Amino acid sequence: MTRKIKKAVFPVAGLGTRFLPATKAVPKEMLTIVDRPVIQLAVDEAREAGIEHLIFVTGRNKGVIEDHFDKQYELEDTLRRRNKMAELAVLEADLPGAGQASFTRQQEPLGLGHAVWCARELVGNEPFALLLPDMFIHASPGCLSQMMNVYNAYGGNVIAVEEVPEDQVYKYGVVGRGETAGAGFHVTSMVEKPKVEDAPSNLIISGRYILQPEIFDLLDKQTAGAGGEIQLTDSMLSLLGQQDFFGLKFEGTTYDCGDKVGFLSANVALGLSRDDISPKFRAALKAILDEKCGL
Ligand code: UTP
Repeated sequence: MTRKIKKAVFPVAGLGTRFLPATKAVPKEMLTIVDRPVIQLAVDEAREAGIEHLIFVTGRNKGVIEDHFDKQYELEDTLRRRNKMAELAVLEADLPGAGQASFTRQQEPLGLGHAVWCARELVGNEPFALLLPDMFIHASPGCLSQMMNVYNAYGGNVIAVEEVPEDQVYKYGVVGRGETAGAGFHVTSMVEKPKVEDAPSNLIISGRYILQPEIFDLLDKQTAGAGGEIQLTDSMLSLLGQQDFFGLKFEGTTYDCGDKVGFLSANVALGLSRDDISPKFRAALKAILDEKCGL
């Protein structure tokens, strides 16, 4: 019997240096894909997968994320008086229930592993989901829902993976592929940012995890790894010696919204898939491509 995954952790304490100056005063997680902040899309994916409690690991200058998940009485009242009921309904549907969102701070951006460790008291002794919000995964059903199917069948820990060209593996956490397990496979090894010749495969970790709470005991002792940061992958590798890890090559497309081209591509992809704006946007995009690229 697997324990139900009720909590999801969203690390949002990174500096977003690749997006300066936009991220000087606005957290990168609040940049929008069409009209939804990047963080909201990750929360949408988590709620679709049955997550009940949202845990945000924030940092300085990220207070607006907390405001985004709170009520805005004046705004809601104004929308009501102006009879903007559709807009009001969107705000109401997005609002977490009372007590269903928690916030903690990572005081220094010491790395993803450290950010996750900061959530240990809020997660407690139960398995949890971890979503890196700047990796936007366009998928239906959502990536975390697909992972839940593997988790419900096999338990343990589950990591979403995708293929990249072999010469690109040095930028990512990479897993080794073992025997098939349903829609997924047994993970045999993991390494963060390997040299191309040391990579166990071209399957990279895509920013979605289901983890058992024992990861926190390992993060307690974790020292800095690649890039001088406390790396989650290093602690997962230690946990791999004690527990099962499953990889899932999910159905969907990933956009790294912490990167300029990834962010622009996500806006184009989501804009083209939205019924309300797609016809106009398609025409506008075609005109730009005609003019700028002669396509
Ligand atoms: P990134 O390395 O992509 O984020 O971390 P970054 O450091 O903000 O980006 P750049 O390179 O400076 O542009 C992946 C995820 O982990 C979080 C980030 O907020 C992002 O969601 N993170 C990273 C933390 O919460 N704390 C950290 O110390 C590092």
